[in-house]
Amino acid sequence: MEVIVLPDPGRIGSLAADAITALITRKPDAVLGLATGSSPLAVYDELVSRYEAGQISFRQARGFTLDEYVGLPADHPERYRNVIDTAFAARVDFAPGAVQGPDGLADDIPAACAAYEAAIRDAGGVDLQILGIGTDGHIAFNEPGSSLASRTRIKTLTRQTRVDNARFFGGDLDQVPTHCLTQGLGTIMEARHLILIAMGRSKAEAVHHLVEGAVSAMWPATVLQMHPHVTVLLDDAAAQRLQLVDYYRETYRAKPAWQGI
Ligand code: GLP
Repeated sequence: MEVIVLPDPGRIGSLAADAITALITRKPDAVLGLATGSSPLAVYDELVSRYEAGQISFRQARGFTLDEYVGLPADHPERYRNVIDTAFAARVDFAPGAVQGPDGLADDIPAACAAYEAAIRDAGGVDLQILGIGTDGHIAFNEPGSSLASRTRIKTLTRQTRVDNARFFGGDLDQVPTHCLTQGLGTIMEARHLILIAMGRSKAEAVHHLVEGAVSAMWPATVLQMHPHVTVLLDDAAAQRLQLVDYYRETYRAKPAWQGI
């Protein structure tokens, strides 16, 4: 796990965008794993700027989102499939239908989850997955207690997650759905490169467990310690509880710029 602490969201966004640019240059039909939430916004904004400057194209690429609320109407602005369009997908040149998400309106939820797993597999798997982290250590919507081998399935959201996300629903907890469909931890672990972004003090405890804690379903993101290629991008506030922060900083300072992440 490579841990990089950077002073501002702009630097975090451009470093992650560099990795995506290098991937798309090498493999124009790459499969991207897209995350919602505020953490990846700097990455998406940077990619949109590069697209507008003619430096990158997503014409042949595909995207899979991590998760979806159950039951939000198709045109609801907080439906994650719409959120990812607004934040990124519709601002660049993905082909129609190239970005997919789990179907939170399906009548047969287990079948929809199995179909999503099959779609990711048929696309050849995710080359690069962007991730945020919840204050309770969830990735996607894999709440504490999730099996470390889980696949795409329905989950009940914790009260903490619903409180955290109420800001997107006018601060009204009752408007936040109680259930979601989410890629499982086992699904996410099959992506070839994972870039997790965390910013702000509210993430410091989860980041401490993610990087330096014991692998445990109580802090689902800790499963990433078992993955061979994970990059964790943090601001100073999110890194403040890391015991080895000086070591991570020193390691990154000494890294040749050409190496990438
Ligand atoms: C939601 C999403 C997660 C995301 C998390 C953190 O719960 N399902 O994928 O990582 O929020 O969001 P933010 O980046 O806004 O803090």
